Amino acid sequence: MVILFDWLAAQLDKASGEPVYRQLLQLMQQAILTGQLAPGTKLPSSRLLAADLGIARNTVLHVYDQLSAEGYVLSTTGSGTYVADTRPDSAAVGPAPDTPTHDGRAVPEPSPRGDMSVRGQRLIDEAGVSARQWGAFMPGVPDVAEFPARTWSRLQARLWKSASPDLLTYAPGGGYRPLRRALSDYLRVARSVRCSPDQIIITTGIHQSIDLAVRMLADTGDRAWVEEPCYWGARSVLQASGIKLAPIPVDGEGLNPRESDLRHPPRMALVTPSHQYPLGMVMSLARRRTLLEYARQHKVWIIEDDYDSEFRYGSRPLASLQGLDDAGQVIYVGSLGKLLFPGLRVGYMVVPERLVGAFRTGVAELYREGQLMQQAVLAEFIMDGYLTTHVRRMRTLYGERRQLLIDAVTRHFGDALPVMGDETGLHFVLGLPEDCDDRVVTAASYDAGVIVRPLASYYFGKQQRKGLLTGYACVPHEDIAPAFATLANVIEEHAFRAASTPRERAA
Ligand SMILES: Cc1ncc(COP(=O)(O)O)c(C=O)c1O
Repeated sequence: MVILFDWLAAQLDKASGEPVYRQLLQLMQQAILTGQLAPGTKLPSSRLLAADLGIARNTVLHVYDQLSAEGYVLSTTGSGTYVADTRPDSAAVGPAPDTPTHDGRAVPEPSPRGDMSVRGQRLIDEAGVSARQWGAFMPGVPDVAEFPARTWSRLQARLWKSASPDLLTYAPGGGYRPLRRALSDYLRVARSVRCSPDQIIITTGIHQSIDLAVRMLADTGDRAWVEEPCYWGARSVLQASGIKLAPIPVDGEGLNPRESDLRHPPRMALVTPSHQYPLGMVMSLARRRTLLEYARQHKVWIIEDDYDSEFRYGSRPLASLQGLDDAGQVIYVGSLGKLLFPGLRVGYMVVPERLVGAFRTGVAELYREGQLMQQAVLAEFIMDGYLTTHVRRMRTLYGERRQLLIDAVTRHFGDALPVMGDETGLHFVLGLPEDCDDRVVTAASYDAGVIVRPLASYYFGKQQRKGLLTGYACVPHEDIAPAFATLANVIEEHAFRAASTPRERAA
């Protein structure tokens, strides 16, 4: 025991900012866990230990109480405090990997397993998320600086003043009813979606909506059609749920399944009909009708990802695929991330009527939703007309920025580099020559302070078009030309090394 006293005295640092109580507790826990204080050892009386260490007896009493509450020691009235025997029970832990069996042979070592699951490792290996989320020319990001924060905070302050308990608890499955009503009105008018408020399920965004749809409608090993190329986030969510992905080519009219694809109906198909991500084409009406008929006949679930089609320049936004679906095979998913700000994390899904009950239960079981206060603020924001006004204002602003960026491209490169998919959304694809490595250009422009994304990274197969996803929405007008000059320098260095000017090379 003298050794314990000496060790504790040497370790305690009364001058440190750490309270003596916490230091002593941690030291005694350490001594018990390492066996320095063996099971059954009787601890010194609190009076003796306090005197020896020169600390208050109450401190020691509190430490002993805490050790007893956490199971390190056992106190018996009258007979003192003893170290409890908490050594792992070897029978409960099981044999070591190479313990000999009854017939004397060694049990084979189990194959070494890393920390990650196979699908977890794949998620990490193929991760698409960017380290930076703001700045020229980050694709897919709206101008959050333009968000009417004062209006939002006024609505929020008013609601908090009369916060009722039902706004502060868990959400009922599906989300705040007035928000579902406001969204169904908005989607009917703005996106020609056919739905009642009951069919709307509020989520934290498209990622969660896809995750829920997959968990509710598909099993591990089921196949899903995805567009080739497609959004990395959708790919990650599907694969992490154990879904096998079948990439389907797209052409100027959108999804274009081959004969061989059609022969194997998938469990689900994930499409971006109003604005193919990332290339930007629109699925033609004929393709939409064919896909819906195929889905009806083969019981394929279609997930329609309608992430940014409100921002259509030059003509009105196009109607959704869901609005044409008479068979109830389409799950429509959308988000307020691009309309308002991505950090809001509010999205919605519109499910066919027969799935409403199941999805409401599913969303509550899996994600235990809340944030009703935020949903209430959003409902008022929409009902008071602020969403429509903001979207209209942003459409004009982004339209101007898009034009400024296209002008900058033309000034630098003439028509040597095509601009693709620029009619809708927050980004376009700047085509690069086929022999140019767009990943290398992306990395070099990142080092130069400009963010773009390589088109090649959205493909599964080797048949990849080269280009850069270039976002203009979040870049102030005056920053567009200088930022593009930086990007153009990098492109020239990598794409046009052989010819003296891009125009010469194009000629
Ligand atoms: C095609 C597509 N779908 C979905 C999302 C993400 O949606 P959310 O932020 O609502 O999860 C993005 C974001 O860039 C996207 O490009």
